[in-house]
Amino acid sequence: MSDIITDELALAIARAPINAAIAAAKLVGRGDERAADQAAVDAMRAALNALAIRGRVVIGEGERDDAPMLFVGESVGGGKGPELDIALDPLEGTTLAAKAKPNALSVIAVAPKGGLLHAPDTYMDKIAIGPGFPDGVIDLDEDAAQNVKALAKAKGVTTSEIGVCVLDRPRHGAIIESLRGSGAKVFLIGDGDIAGVIHCTKPETGIDMYLGSGGAPEGVLAAAALKCVGGQFQGRLVIRNDQERVRAQQAGIEELKRRYDLNDLVSGAAVFIATGVTSGSLLEGVRIRKGEVQTHTLVLNCASGASMELKTRERAQ
Ligand code: FBP
Repeated sequence: MSDIITDELALAIARAPINAAIAAAKLVGRGDERAADQAAVDAMRAALNALAIRGRVVIGEGERDDAPMLFVGESVGGGKGPELDIALDPLEGTTLAAKAKPNALSVIAVAPKGGLLHAPDTYMDKIAIGPGFPDGVIDLDEDAAQNVKALAKAKGVTTSEIGVCVLDRPRHGAIIESLRGSGAKVFLIGDGDIAGVIHCTKPETGIDMYLGSGGAPEGVLAAAALKCVGGQFQGRLVIRNDQERVRAQQAGIEELKRRYDLNDLVSGAAVFIATGVTSGSLLEGVRIRKGEVQTHTLVLNCASGASMELKTRERAQ
């Protein structure tokens, strides 16, 4: 069996986030995060089960006892075809969708079995930059201002020309202060740090670096995208209590304080796919009008190097 995912298979898998995005889009702006998430989960699961793959969810909606569907360890797919590990977030940015704010996405990353870190549902400290810089420019263990200086030097610009994306959270107060002290521009986002990381690969966003803590599952998903387009990512789990320690150990993590690089998080030739639910800086959101639905999807395949943008139009169900 080939251990790579073909572009053809990647495009077939794209049905999962596309259908999830369409389902969630029907509930955008309704203020009901749970309903939008559930609709996305149901649609993504049905689409995955229609594929000729033997998939196993390694990052999903939670543990089997808490999540009725797409739980970690769940088998998906038609029972024939390649053995794949699947990391998914059917609705990334549930609050964004509920409030009809930009950059809610439906996201999936797929790799040959064993190719994705089974990240527990904890926080992760993260730092990321886009492609084109020598290894070691950034350092998760360095002060934020120091990272800005190092990146500015590598880029040949002043620190005031460096943009850094950070989740707008009280826990990031010290990081934000340090960044502003360095002269960097701080782009605060309300939610959605997968998009936050991917921004670093898109010069038009003005964002060069992503910094701060967010979900560990989202860290692996974002790392899959960077693995395909180039860039650097470092992450470390944030374990705050015994419950989280147990969760990490159950996920098979032995070294709780380990610093992960891109290739530790995504060791296989992954595919990353995201469909816009609401329009934002990365993708257009789902449009449903006059019986027609339009979607916009990014498909990145590490194995082939393909970066594909997919626009679909179909009859609304
Ligand atoms: P949800 O889609 O699960 O609501 O996650 C949104 C998100 O902003 C992620 O992108 C991010 O990793 C995480 O929440 C940050 O968590 P918190 O809101 O607790 O700071």
